[in-house]
Amino acid sequence: MTQDLYPVKPEFAERAHIRSMEEYQRLYRLSLDNPEWFWGEQAKALTWFHPWQSVFDADYKEVDFSWFLGGRINASFNCIDRHLATHGDRTALIWAQDEPGVYTHITYRELKHHVCRVANVLLHHGVKKGDRVCLYMTMIPELVYTMLACARIGAVHSVVFGGFSAEALRDRIVDAKCKVVVTANEGLRGGKRVPLKKTVDRAIEGMSMVETVLVARRTDGEVSMEAGRDLWLDEEMTRQRSTCTNEWMGSEDPLFILYTSGSTGKPKGLLHTTGGYLTYAAFTHKMVFDYHPGDIYFCAADIGWVTGHSYIVYGPLANGATSVIFESTPLYPDAGRYWQIVDDLGVNILYTAPTALRALAQAGDEWIKKYSRKSLRILGTVGEPINPEVWRWYHDVVGEGRCTVVDTWWQTETGGILITPLPGVTPTKPGSATLPFFGVKPVIVDPATGAVLEGNDVSGALCLATPWPGTARTVHGDHKRFKDTYFTQYPGYYFTGDGARRDEDGYYWITGRIDDVINVSGHRLGTAEVESALVAHEAVAEAAVVGCPHPIKGQGIYCYVILNQGYANGGKEQLIGALKEQVRQSIGAFAAPDVIHIASGLPKTRSGKIMRRILRKIASAEYEGMGDISTLAEPDVVDRLIKEHQVVSK
Ligand code: PRX
Repeated sequence: MTQDLYPVKPEFAERAHIRSMEEYQRLYRLSLDNPEWFWGEQAKALTWFHPWQSVFDADYKEVDFSWFLGGRINASFNCIDRHLATHGDRTALIWAQDEPGVYTHITYRELKHHVCRVANVLLHHGVKKGDRVCLYMTMIPELVYTMLACARIGAVHSVVFGGFSAEALRDRIVDAKCKVVVTANEGLRGGKRVPLKKTVDRAIEGMSMVETVLVARRTDGEVSMEAGRDLWLDEEMTRQRSTCTNEWMGSEDPLFILYTSGSTGKPKGLLHTTGGYLTYAAFTHKMVFDYHPGDIYFCAADIGWVTGHSYIVYGPLANGATSVIFESTPLYPDAGRYWQIVDDLGVNILYTAPTALRALAQAGDEWIKKYSRKSLRILGTVGEPINPEVWRWYHDVVGEGRCTVVDTWWQTETGGILITPLPGVTPTKPGSATLPFFGVKPVIVDPATGAVLEGNDVSGALCLATPWPGTARTVHGDHKRFKDTYFTQYPGYYFTGDGARRDEDGYYWITGRIDDVINVSGHRLGTAEVESALVAHEAVAEAAVVGCPHPIKGQGIYCYVILNQGYANGGKEQLIGALKEQVRQSIGAFAAPDVIHIASGLPKTRSGKIMRRILRKIASAEYEGMGDISTLAEPDVVDRLIKEHQVVSK
């Protein structure tokens, strides 16, 4: 393994914030031995209205962690106002619109005015500190303005990815009890219009909780506006002043809720608080991407997911960076889109997902070679395991061997990057997220015995032994669920849901989820969510959903479905189409199944438990090594499923 090692490039070490492995190891040790000193130093990079009294407090039994208690801070102030005196005219955001070559630059000073106007609109409509506001938008600047406007007045934003269906949006609005929803008439993505307002209308139909819907105007598309409830955001903004004071938030006051999938059918709203999260997002952004003032930084994620929260909005803006927000897709209008943006804007740091890279690698190198890409320095990846071939392609073809690749592992729950190379420090290995970030202590646990596996060359469940400032504090409205999901499986540790190997050099290799979560094109999805969507269809008696390998998406969605009597004969194609549609309606188009396998039975133990291990193997066409199937209530079901699978796959 060690032979496939990419050494640190000397020119990177020279300019980096951390310049050698020795320096990293010394600081890493300090961060674990004396976290209060270490994180206290990092938090000083932010502007606090009032200093904290204690860096870290914990009630481990209650899983209650506090960072910088007593401190008063505002995230909007830190992302905007404090930069104005020195670089108010620096570009904060570059909006790369869906239409190729069309860019809007927004300076920090302009950002402040827009954010203040939106903040005043929210205040005018009765939004108070602690109220939740739902944001259902595509990638337009108003999304960033509204997030920061919420932060400014102490409201809690809950951004729902613009690809979710009305049903999914409704559940999230209800769970967070949002009285205001901010959306756009339509979104634009890859040349297509996204009917955002229409979806909001369906989501909140008959719901009295939502009092106000603010609608940004992205297209000339007509939408129906309900009198007394729906208002155009631009019209409301012009009525408001462009200044608005910042609430002095407690460090532990909530900043945002972000829903993510777990192993049950109900998504959970992870709650992040203010001081610790912002400290962590800003510090990781600076170190992992080796950000320096003047760099043009382009994270191609969607703000609907955590990557966009931490590494398009909060981290970069807290550091005074120029952050690109990308409205389109990597393949629109062609596979040269990223590289055109890189050349047009002089991008130095690119951060994207393996699924996009796989699609681009498949489209052919000619799309890349058409552009110079000479400004690029750091190439980041996140969201799912990156196959070593694609890593090498990213390094050799995109980066022409000049750039440093950082494969960053983290989660919605963690708030920021936890396992990652540092450009001036870490020799990299394609496919490995390498070493822990400061303050992070990964632990590999044997899932069978719960024993911690010490030393190198071990694999098991990935857990984390020590708290860090960016971690989510709770599941909104359900702290018991937070404790049960993350802290009970391996007592004393946070369980990530991922499997990992620590190799002979102590490098971490994330092998993917070991719970019932799948990762489809970097979108995290609970198999139980897809199952409950399927069983809601009258034809379906039972459904079991697993991930299967997919060349572009990483994982595809493979659904085993048992039909109710009377549906088994005829019209199969039509039924399969209807079931896929059912999932689209219930979750969103990104969750549409790849395979619906109408099955004659499911492998169950005598006590009725579905043996998912077998279903995963069959979905992956791995027919060997099924393990012991003698405990199945009906062992021949395995052969039948294999035969049916071969038919389904043709
Ligand atoms: O399985 C891991 C995978 O994505 C999961 C977290 O998904 P989400 O909360 O949506 O956040 C994605 C963006 C941070 C993890 O449990 N994952 C994330 N990054 C990597 C990864 N798997 C392998 N390598 C990564 N770099």
